[in-house]
Amino acid sequence: MRKKIVAGNWKMNLNVSEGVALVEELNVGISEGVKADELIVFPPFPHLYAVKDRAIKLQVGAQNCHTALNGAYTGEVSAPMLSSIQISHVLVGHSERRAYFNELNDLLAKKVDAVLDEGMTAVYCCGETLPEREENRHFNVIGAQLAEGLFHLNENQLKQVVIAYEPVWAIGTGKTASSAQAQEVHAYIRKLIATNYTADAAENMSILYGGSCNPANAQELFSQPDVDGGLIGGASLKSADFIQIANSY
Ligand code: PGA
Repeated sequence: MRKKIVAGNWKMNLNVSEGVALVEELNVGISEGVKADELIVFPPFPHLYAVKDRAIKLQVGAQNCHTALNGAYTGEVSAPMLSSIQISHVLVGHSERRAYFNELNDLLAKKVDAVLDEGMTAVYCCGETLPEREENRHFNVIGAQLAEGLFHLNENQLKQVVIAYEPVWAIGTGKTASSAQAQEVHAYIRKLIATNYTADAAENMSILYGGSCNPANAQELFSQPDVDGGLIGGASLKSADFIQIANSY
């Protein structure tokens, strides 16, 4: 059975001591029990070691990595460096990386490979911009993001992947997709997996929704049959909100 996952993308927020304080608050909340099967946080790179050290029953992921194992890539961080401190997940293809750092599907396919080669899980993000939705091109855009960035994997490798659907127009805008809009796209993604792989692979894939998800709308979104959890930005910076979202099943 697929897992119910709530993940917090801290983006470029909090200093290290604030990040450690947040994790310690999350530890307390989680110790009281949460309904999600798995909780993950994605802090910035300088925080990873300290956060990893403090986290109890909380997985720690990275927001990005380079495709190469090592070398002359000043400012970059490799997948083996992350796995060497037991990082479990890496975000690949977040819309902010696609938009501001020019990351295209073919590069993202290589990042997915780098993450999987190190035994970590890739949280592969997809989603359309507002003009793409308005022109009714969202299914094609998402289909291409998945085909070009992910579907080179074999079915066994796909078990090391979680998909996050994040409509760009809903990220950080306070404008959430309706639960029907989210469900429609999640069902489409699951159908693509069934078509390209097997019904089993589709059934076992966790598909998270992201984009202005908060304690007020999480329950409605997570009640949809193909929405298995959330990738949370802003609301993941407040421990009470994040825990409440993790209990929204
Ligand atoms: P948001 O961000 O929850 O602040 O909209 C979600 C994300 O970008 O992962």
